[in-house]
Amino acid sequence: MPIRREYPPNAVEAADVKLGRVDAQYTRVLSRLLAAHAMAEKLTALGYERAIRTLDNSELEPILRKNLGEERKHARLIYRALEEIGISQQAADRSMITVIRAPSFDAPSYFAGKIAGELDFLMASLSVDSTGLIMIGVNYKDSSYAPHARAAEVILEEEAEHNMFALEQLGQAIENFGREAVQVALRGWVPRAVNFFGPPGSGFTYDCLRFGLKARDNNELAELYVTMLEKKCGQLGLEMPRLTATYPHSLAN
Ligand SMILES: [Fe+2]
Ligand SMILES: [Fe+2]
Repeated sequence: MPIRREYPPNAVEAADVKLGRVDAQYTRVLSRLLAAHAMAEKLTALGYERAIRTLDNSELEPILRKNLGEERKHARLIYRALEEIGISQQAADRSMITVIRAPSFDAPSYFAGKIAGELDFLMASLSVDSTGLIMIGVNYKDSSYAPHARAAEVILEEEAEHNMFALEQLGQAIENFGREAVQVALRGWVPRAVNFFGPPGSGFTYDCLRFGLKARDNNELAELYVTMLEKKCGQLGLEMPRLTATYPHSLAN
């Protein structure tokens, strides 16, 4: 049975939260969701910083700098939304300490701290930007929390460009590194990317759906991503890695 949505899109403003005009649980769930979104944007920005520092590819550098600026802006937008409801960046980040160790944060954490070389960077971008595009476009654009919906609108356009860039680069990578190497890298990254959507059917997501803070459960978004990537792999003659059925996903073969 579909979950009844208690708040329509754009129904709640910061003042409603501050003045206690919404359910206390709404505020708790919103705070955690925004803190996780802000952290994902911040780690992505750190990933682009790392790419600029380590890649030494003057051709890629302008686009890396552009994306870095945009990811920083996305993080600022969400941290500002948190501040509006009385949560500092520090407090938000502190609330994520255990969350960022979960498999759902493996992709942005790896991007921020571990990517090595151009092919690894490209896979990170494909895993974080394309998944982000789906999460924001499907889930946050019609959030009941109007400031999040407005931020999503701004972020969405830029994420669409990042996604295009990553998909284009995938074709380029086959030319530069060979199909075999790209295939291996893909096998390393696809489980991470799919896990980024988080576990399905959690109590937290149930509350997000009920409060209209998300429109779809995590597994539905993960399926959209897999379908998109499968199509792209088909076009490029790559084999889409098969994953185990349950979260956290790993390679099935
Ligand atoms: Fe972003
Ligand atoms: Fe992005």
